[in-house]
Amino acid sequence: MHRLEKMISAIEIILRHVHEGIVIADREGRVVYVNDANERITGLDNKKILGRYVKDVVPESSLIEVIETGREKLGTRTRVRDKYVISNIVPIYDGAEIIGSISVFLDITEVENLNIKLKKAQEQIDKLSKQLSTFLGDGQFIVGKNPMMQKVIYIAQKAAGVNSNVLITGESGTGKEVMARFIHNAGPRKDKPFVAVNCGAIPETLLESELFGYEPGAFTGAGNRGKAGIFELANGGTIFLDEIGDMSLSLQVKLLRVLQDKEIRRLGGIDKIKLDVRVMAATNKPLEKMVAEKTFREDLYYRLNVIQISLPPLRERKEDIPLYVRFLLDKLSGQLKAACPKISPGAMKALMNYDFPGNIRELENILEKSMVMDEDGNIDTDDLPDILSAHTGARGFYVETEGRWPTLKEVEKTLLEKTLAVFSNKTRAAEVLGISRATLYRMLDESTGKGVSR
Ligand SMILES: Nc1ncnc2c1ncn2[C@@H]1O[C@H](COP(=O)(O)OP(=O)(O)OP(=O)(O)O)[C@@H](O)[C@H]1O
Ligand SMILES: [Mg+2]
Repeated sequence: MHRLEKMISAIEIILRHVHEGIVIADREGRVVYVNDANERITGLDNKKILGRYVKDVVPESSLIEVIETGREKLGTRTRVRDKYVISNIVPIYDGAEIIGSISVFLDITEVENLNIKLKKAQEQIDKLSKQLSTFLGDGQFIVGKNPMMQKVIYIAQKAAGVNSNVLITGESGTGKEVMARFIHNAGPRKDKPFVAVNCGAIPETLLESELFGYEPGAFTGAGNRGKAGIFELANGGTIFLDEIGDMSLSLQVKLLRVLQDKEIRRLGGIDKIKLDVRVMAATNKPLEKMVAEKTFREDLYYRLNVIQISLPPLRERKEDIPLYVRFLLDKLSGQLKAACPKISPGAMKALMNYDFPGNIRELENILEKSMVMDEDGNIDTDDLPDILSAHTGARGFYVETEGRWPTLKEVEKTLLEKTLAVFSNKTRAAEVLGISRATLYRMLDESTGKGVSR
């Protein structure tokens, strides 16, 4: 008997009963031993392997390599047919001479498959969450799958990486400040200050000293200590000039000079202070129109408007409403330390039908009120504030078109359904729509017959 065979027969009883698969090759690379576990794990027929060259049966095996190099290979993952195994392969010595190699391996197919599934699921999650929202950093998200909003998010991400001035426009409550903070937090200045100043809320004379600071005795009431302005406080970071449309023309001139020179002088001061401040401004006023009317300086407008982000009102991206509802309910339940309520289809429909002149802020407000009113963990139409009831009635309705502009037929059909739901009586419905009963019936036939998509 060969030395290797002798060795094997001495421990065969152990090799046969272990859980791991075992393959032993002799110095020529021929399989001299395989245990039952090998057959179970790999599905290879042991009888057909025994005596054959390893490279002919499992070409990807490292048994030969280990014999040739004399170096063990531990923790190698390989695929054998449809199974994944992890193996330890070591040379077998007789004295100083290598007489073969042994591979001991475990079936990790299930683990590997779970891994693959997990990876795929993670990719899917990443893809979807990118479509739905963008992480703001401190637990906040920019929500929006609407194409306009996606474009805005894209521009904002680009803006985060550069230093250019940003002008954010949009109706009240569309998230201008949220957006400014996002751009700041997603960029290299994120660890530096973000200082917001509301140019509309502060009287002009005060705003000037707020922005630029002052030296002792600069004006009556300036005190004898002086004060750093917001520009100085924001140095290295970002200054957010909110409601820039409310800034007086004379202050606009001073602001423009600061933006051009990148330095300030405190009121009553002599020394110039170098500035490295990123400027973002926001307004819900029509700046372009104000420029035409000469109530906003054109040169300042162009200085600020290097990157423009215009946030669409919520009513122009109704498909995002359910996303915001879910996001905000989740956020609010955290704040109110309450369980996150469900929302009934009726209540959701009422929200979709509403115009939201106050945009996301108003939606947040409405949801908070509704959560307070709600008692059973399910927000229904009667938990919604009264302002919405007008919109659950005949006024305002939502045509489901997945973001596409609705066709006249679709609008017609939705209005018809809505009217009938409110005025269940067909004569009355025809009357409020200003059409004859016959026309109403014909339209009903048409819309059901031809099946305008719902
Ligand atoms: N993209 C968003 N995702 C989630 N919440 C948002 C988003 N945008 C705004 N919000 C929420 O809406 C509210 C209003 O946002 P923000 O204060 O930024 O609006 P604004 O445009 O600055 O309004 P205003 O013109 O009245 O100052 C905030 O409470 C914010 O949490
Ligand atoms: Mg604001």
